[in-house]
Amino acid sequence: MCGIIGYTTNKKDAVEIAIAGLKNLEYRGYDSSGIAYNDGKITMVKSKGKIANLDDKLKSLDTTSSIAIAHTRWATHGEPNETNAHPHKVGKVTLVHNGIIENYATLKEELIAKGYEFKSETDTEVATAYIDYCYATYSDKLKAIVEACKKIRGSYAFDIIFEDEPETIYSTRKDSPLIIGYGKDGNFAASDISAILSYTNKYSLIDESDVVRITKDNVTFYNSNLEEVKKEIKIADWDATQYQKNGYDHFMLKEIYEQPKVIQDIYTRFYNNCDYSDLDITSFEKIHIVACGSAMHAALVGKYLLQTYAKIPAMVEVASEYRYAEELITPKTLLIVVSQSGETADTLAALRLAKEKGAYVVGIVNAVGSTIAREVDKCIYTYAGPEIAVATTKGYTTQVAIFATLAINAMKKNNTLVNEEKIKSELLNVENVLNTIISNRELYLDIAQKIYTHNDVFFIGRGIDSAVCMEGSLKLKEISYTHSESYSAGELKHGTISLIEDGTPVIALATNDDLFEKTVSNLKETKARGAYSIFITTDNYKDYNFDEFADKVIMLHKTSEFLQPILVVVTLQLIAYEVAKLKGCDIDKPRNLAKSVTVE
Ligand code: F6R
Repeated sequence: MCGIIGYTTNKKDAVEIAIAGLKNLEYRGYDSSGIAYNDGKITMVKSKGKIANLDDKLKSLDTTSSIAIAHTRWATHGEPNETNAHPHKVGKVTLVHNGIIENYATLKEELIAKGYEFKSETDTEVATAYIDYCYATYSDKLKAIVEACKKIRGSYAFDIIFEDEPETIYSTRKDSPLIIGYGKDGNFAASDISAILSYTNKYSLIDESDVVRITKDNVTFYNSNLEEVKKEIKIADWDATQYQKNGYDHFMLKEIYEQPKVIQDIYTRFYNNCDYSDLDITSFEKIHIVACGSAMHAALVGKYLLQTYAKIPAMVEVASEYRYAEELITPKTLLIVVSQSGETADTLAALRLAKEKGAYVVGIVNAVGSTIAREVDKCIYTYAGPEIAVATTKGYTTQVAIFATLAINAMKKNNTLVNEEKIKSELLNVENVLNTIISNRELYLDIAQKIYTHNDVFFIGRGIDSAVCMEGSLKLKEISYTHSESYSAGELKHGTISLIEDGTPVIALATNDDLFEKTVSNLKETKARGAYSIFITTDNYKDYNFDEFADKVIMLHKTSEFLQPILVVVTLQLIAYEVAKLKGCDIDKPRNLAKSVTVE
């Protein structure tokens, strides 16, 4: 949700390097972008659309500068256009912002009364003006930022340049990510490490409300009392090549292909050196699992595994709704928050609420050092590596893989784990099995060709398959803009079946032997009404007669339910991918979306 980068250097290539870094942040938002630099005065250049447009504009300008702050936007206040794009400049202050200023309307009124005028519809221009006003009041940049931030309510990561100190960047953050990078020729303040990895892997995290003064050869951190504080310098173990497509057509495809390895790694760590084996989820009175979007879908699979196998009841709640369940949170509650980015605002708010209520909070998180990872009581990392495609793939499957291990651990604690060796050998063989499934690309393309011209697609399944359907449906709609719905197979006939007409694609999942016949019946009900039926099941049914109800069949390796959902969802990811490709969609950057949703 917006990406920012600031760079100050002893060379003259700050614009070039800031733009290169910004391109790596483009997955965070891509409706407009802009940059400010010092060519004797503070110059701002902005453009609507992708960063490539901004880059084109810059080519005809003299961009020799040893400082730059840049921004890629996902619009919240005001449509994507050049006026609303960042940076914003008011008085002596130019800044870029990731986050949302909740009380901007009140602050704006206050500032208008003081004589300020505004050009854009943004909350950010108001924050810029407020800092300018505080600077005029206190004549001290650090104090101006601290005082302005006392008045500003909401979330922010700011990179700021003051006109009378044009070679220095001031940065601060609250509830939005920002890191400091230490380069050979200068220093950075960026939304995440991906922006700077080509130049340095040395970075520090900025604590909430700290203010940082960054010059080309010095970085000084201050707390909100303006006392200098020391920060640990960390070394990132992700490298720049992980942020490249490495020969794949899309990041999404690359990330689909990375799944076998990262999931195998989870199970190898689990059986060899599990760093959460001491976590006894059976000791809590109740478990709440909270997340958004795909992470919430992973939570639904987790709930199923915990309830069905470990016999632990769990409640799954969409993070933005969790506050309405406030009265259910007690000190005996275990809250599991699930987040690939570790920055999702709704999930973060849920975790803070639960901590206030005394609950113990565990995070299943991918982004190392992210806000959620830092604020939970215990963080279980998925170590999926950087996920650049906006639609998650390996982020989701690694979350499911962690839930499987939590259920297995709980069953061990309860002494209810049967077939332990069989499950272990299945999990430790996942890489081979998944590679085989992924290599079956022609089958997914064939199915995609049958469905890509249709406006509506339905996914049905029972039990754990019903949870997987939700993710399959989301993947299809978000990247291919095909309307799709996911239904518990038994529920379709209670209303939605009225939408089935001649040729409507229905994808049915039936991987659980106890539920197989019922799902077959439900698919037949749609077939009888003209549906084009796609049936996904397991290879123990290879002799079954599918002809009378299935137009297409995908048969997957039969394995335990701890693993089966992952095998199924990978086929659904690839079907969605092929549909989106046939429709010519921008697969890695679907319209209206942004990775890392840092506003509530
Ligand atoms: C869908 C997708 C989103 C995210 C959701 C939560 O493909 O990626 O639905 O799953 O925004 O994001 P995280 O996991 O970063 O909290």
